[in-house]
Amino acid sequence: MCGIVAYVGQKDAYPILINGLKRLEYRGYDSAGVALFETDIIVSKKKGKVQELVNFMDTRPRNGKIGIGHTRWATHGVPDDINAHPHSSGNGRLTLVHNGIIENYALLKAALEKEGHKFKSETDTEVLVHLIEEIQKRDNLPLEEAVRIALTRVIGAYAIVVLDENEPGKLVGARKASPLVIGIGENEFFLASDATPIIEHTKRVVYLNDEEIAVVRQSGEMEIKSINNEVLTPFIHELDMEIEMLEKGGYDYFMLKEIYEQPNTIADCMRGRLNAEEGWIKLGGVDEFANRIANAQRFIIAACGTSWHAGLIGEYLFEELARMPVEVEYASELRYRNPIITEKDVVIALSQSGETADTLAALEMAKEKGALIYGIVNVVGSSIARMTDAGSYIHAGPEIGVASTKAFTAQVTLLTMMALRIGYQRGTISESYFRLLLNELASIPAKVERVMASNQLIEYIAGEIKDRPNALYLGRGYNFPIALEGALKLKEISYIHAEGYPAAEMKHGPIALIDENMPVIVIATNKSAYDKIVSNIQEVKARKGFVIAVVTEGDTVISELADHTIEIPDTEEPLTPLLSVIPLQLLSYHIAVMRKCNVDQPRNLAKSVTVE
Ligand code: M6R
Repeated sequence: MCGIVAYVGQKDAYPILINGLKRLEYRGYDSAGVALFETDIIVSKKKGKVQELVNFMDTRPRNGKIGIGHTRWATHGVPDDINAHPHSSGNGRLTLVHNGIIENYALLKAALEKEGHKFKSETDTEVLVHLIEEIQKRDNLPLEEAVRIALTRVIGAYAIVVLDENEPGKLVGARKASPLVIGIGENEFFLASDATPIIEHTKRVVYLNDEEIAVVRQSGEMEIKSINNEVLTPFIHELDMEIEMLEKGGYDYFMLKEIYEQPNTIADCMRGRLNAEEGWIKLGGVDEFANRIANAQRFIIAACGTSWHAGLIGEYLFEELARMPVEVEYASELRYRNPIITEKDVVIALSQSGETADTLAALEMAKEKGALIYGIVNVVGSSIARMTDAGSYIHAGPEIGVASTKAFTAQVTLLTMMALRIGYQRGTISESYFRLLLNELASIPAKVERVMASNQLIEYIAGEIKDRPNALYLGRGYNFPIALEGALKLKEISYIHAEGYPAAEMKHGPIALIDENMPVIVIATNKSAYDKIVSNIQEVKARKGFVIAVVTEGDTVISELADHTIEIPDTEEPLTPLLSVIPLQLLSYHIAVMRKCNVDQPRNLAKSVTVE
């Protein structure tokens, strides 16, 4: 939520900031702003997307070799020009951008108002910049020291970058529970919420840790301190990312590109980890803690949104293949209960971004209780990746569309490998079935490619249902989480109300909704309970529902009943989700395009949910 970018160096800051903001726009697009420092700090900000800011900047000064920028996902205060970042101190000397939430801002604001501070916006961020100003002017402190002291008084989450008009040539950045990456160039530095604005300039980065403060200077110096004033030695990472990964590559939307990337991303997730011919799976994180994981009392999977749906598939996989007891928890619920978690449990976190605040907080709680924390994360160096005891990256590459697609299938691929690896060690899967699933998993990328061949048919079906106000998704077993995921994809990008349900549960309530206006998307590839799902389809048809069924190639029974069928290649049942989700991703995509929705940046959403 919210993206920040900053530059100090020898080049013009404005184009670097604007390109950076475009890359970070997936994190929020309620407003955007920049502050550029040449002789004075000039702040320009606008409600709306980065393009609104770009248009506005046609008439504004754009000079300066130092500057900060922000793209906002509104928390405190409506999305408008005034609440847009950057925010300035009362005396105009300091300017700041912020990602996160200052939870005690009301108390701080009241105290500052007593000291005579006047606020222009409704934001928590403006309170923070006034607090730094107050501390700085009281003791005549250098910027970094005022920032450090101010942050000791703050409760909440922040990644910030601050400019001081009286201290030219330097930026001060800090983080706690919101990400901040520093790119190191030749006498220049880039600060950003993630590496995407940095990669085109340098591959050398430092990931700031919680409660660390960085000072970077135009002269090429960098210092990092803890909030307790200890000097720290930064660890420089080399980014493993190419600029092409951040471009649309000829597709209309990132979401479509990411759907089509899945044959490759699933293969990338398995690369070097699975060898079907030799019959092995290696996962560094699992291998390192092999006995503790295989002998765990239970697995608790914590995640949000689409990652939670992947977790639900994980439950089915771990139970069936590794005979492990599993609980799947919404991270936001887990953290606010008083759950029974012990050192015998393994808590598995699933997160594309690795920054989801609820997931992070749930993990911190579980860590305190002594559980082993295992992260399944996409973004390298993200907060979750760094706080876990062990983990596996899913290697899906940058996912820019707000609707998660390729990260989901990579998460499911990773969970499948993990279940197989642990099941093999625990002796809960036969050698022959293990080998069969390994071979089958290795063939999934080619089968995903074959599902893509139905794109035109799916587009046609999308046209048939695009104007219906509701949709019901039904699935059983491994396809139940896919029903949930299909419904989430549809609602988040096309704003059509949709529900996912276990097919058999339909008769306990949702059946009341079915009439000729209700599209019912049934994922009916199951081998077990096949007859039951056929009966469910008959129940829907008897009430004149409009049935779209995802079936296994060659199915003749369901194609007689359903209004439309979409075929997917046959596979072993535990691997079905990797194929059955693809038509649902494409269906949502086409419906959203036909409804003229902004597919990559749906309203009210952001890619990385760093607020609770
Ligand atoms: O980055 P994470 O995987 O932790 O994000 C979790 C959810 O916010 C995310 O999956 C969200 O539901 C997506 N918009 C779904 O497409």
